[in-house]
Amino acid sequence: MYTEQYRIMMKVTNHIRYVGVDDTDLDLFESQYPVPEGVTYNSYLIEDEKIAIMDSVDRRKTSEWMAQLEQALDGRSPHYLVVQHMEPDHGGSISAVMERWPQLQIVASTKAVQMLPQFFAQMDFSGRTVAVKEGDTLSLGNHTLQFMMAPMVHWPEVMVTYEQTERVLFSADAFGTFGALHGNLTDQRAWPDEARRYYVNICGKYGQPVQQLLRKVGALEVATICPLHGPILEDLAYPIGLYDQWSRYEAECDGILVAYASIHGGTATAALCMADLLRKRGAEVVTMDLCRCDISAAVSEAFRMKRMVLAASSYDASVFPPMHDFLHHLQLKAYKGHRVGIIENGSWAPTAGRVMSEMLGAMKEIDLAPSMVTIRSTMKPTDMEAMEALATAMLD
Ligand code: FEO
Repeated sequence: MYTEQYRIMMKVTNHIRYVGVDDTDLDLFESQYPVPEGVTYNSYLIEDEKIAIMDSVDRRKTSEWMAQLEQALDGRSPHYLVVQHMEPDHGGSISAVMERWPQLQIVASTKAVQMLPQFFAQMDFSGRTVAVKEGDTLSLGNHTLQFMMAPMVHWPEVMVTYEQTERVLFSADAFGTFGALHGNLTDQRAWPDEARRYYVNICGKYGQPVQQLLRKVGALEVATICPLHGPILEDLAYPIGLYDQWSRYEAECDGILVAYASIHGGTATAALCMADLLRKRGAEVVTMDLCRCDISAAVSEAFRMKRMVLAASSYDASVFPPMHDFLHHLQLKAYKGHRVGIIENGSWAPTAGRVMSEMLGAMKEIDLAPSMVTIRSTMKPTDMEAMEALATAMLD
């Protein structure tokens, strides 16, 4: 694996090398997001008079990462490990490099330095850390690292790093995506769909902090973005434009998501009927069965589409749990600024509509369509008038 050809392939520039790893057998990223195409834990080596490692990797891959580092360093010792983010998918192997190279110093934000003992209680960090703040720089020789704080993108201790000479932005979680690279550092096939699912579910709540980061990035001349997950980005207008749109909670598609949670099929029939009505009127429609789809994909679609129809059964005087779970996820991710219509089903005392309305009411700037549809067990011809009225309201 560590051949000369491999080493050349993993070059970002003549002085910056990719030393990250693929994780292709992880079932759930952060124990909740399916990653059928795997995920990467990116790490980079900047080679100059002083050598800096940019972030470590998840402890699932410590051995592979360390072997890769040893190969790339070829007997030299690194001077710094820059820790941009303490979440264990990146900070998990910090102790391994500290033990291997006792002179190495950790460079991190003040908050990250404070967090280090929380994750590595057995380690002695005295004299091993350099806390940096906004605008601080660190010279490696011909390369200079400029640190910029990026709190809540995605944790409070996060910072990003701009290498001034080669104009490379090490962007921490920002601009990451799911999917392994298999040695192809610039493979952007996972953009935009997997990048959107990653962004919305990981950073979706933090639109304002992402906007602040984008303003800082906009003031720089950036040639390359090196994120902590997924490919290195060189064609920057497209991903930066999408990040701007996502972090302003703007829909990408002027279409409608019809998301349904049905127990015995009656609600699903009503939802699919609504999808047909909307399509017949020319709308672009995506349907998702919340009982069977990946919830993170449904949340991502809710952000992508401008409008949404929710259809759910009533359940235990509330709403069927898959819909409750979906709305809870949307609340957590600060979903806002969309028009939403509701179809409820109830065989004796419909309650789903009330609960869905209340949950949507707790979100910001939700434009709730006034014409809620109530189905009694199964759809009947007499329900069509209400269905047509909701379709009209959704397309207003
Ligand atoms: Fe990829 Fe927030 O860690």
